[in-house]
Amino acid sequence: MTVLLLIAAGYLLGSIPFGVILTRAFGAGDLRQIGSGSIGATNVLRTGRKGLAAATVLLDGAKGAVAVLLARHFAPEAGDVGAIAAGAAAVIGHCYPMWLKFRGGKGVATLLGLYLALAWPIALVFAIVWLAMVAITRISSLGGMTGVVAAPIAAFAFGYPVYALGLAGLALVALWRHRENIARLRAGTEPRIGARKDAA
Ligand code: G3P
Repeated sequence: MTVLLLIAAGYLLGSIPFGVILTRAFGAGDLRQIGSGSIGATNVLRTGRKGLAAATVLLDGAKGAVAVLLARHFAPEAGDVGAIAAGAAAVIGHCYPMWLKFRGGKGVATLLGLYLALAWPIALVFAIVWLAMVAITRISSLGGMTGVVAAPIAAFAFGYPVYALGLAGLALVALWRHRENIARLRAGTEPRIGARKDAA
């Protein structure tokens, strides 16, 4: 019962669209009408407001981390399964928020927070892969997609098989959420970091 409540709490937490709230509150427009239309930090950056983008990464990441910490605190008996289930619910909430007709973000920042709370070495591998990919290509979606695929492999290699399984499922969700990015990458039209709101 407690675990089910924590999964519900994780979803509700994850469904808070911080990118949309911040851009609206600070007069940067409706994020869903800008760039890719996604509610994540990469799209916030297209408004030209770097501070808002940084705040969005932090707050969206916190959603994944807090869901795990709540599960560990209130249902320690559920162990690794409880932690990954609550964290996964936060990622699903971010990607499919009921407040926005289930059209949300792509899960990358919330996954980063989740990795950090589960086991920091997983987050480190994600960060290295993301940074390397973005440094080479300047394409955020490529960094996100390769990072979320690397994370479950890292979890398995570091001895966290339960996390690895859950994170592999979430990587599939994140890849599915990136399907328009994948189409643009194939067409050679995916914008690089630095492009403004007129870019996709
Ligand atoms: O983290 C989100 C990123 O991978 C893609 O965002 O707005 O370029 O579709 P966007």
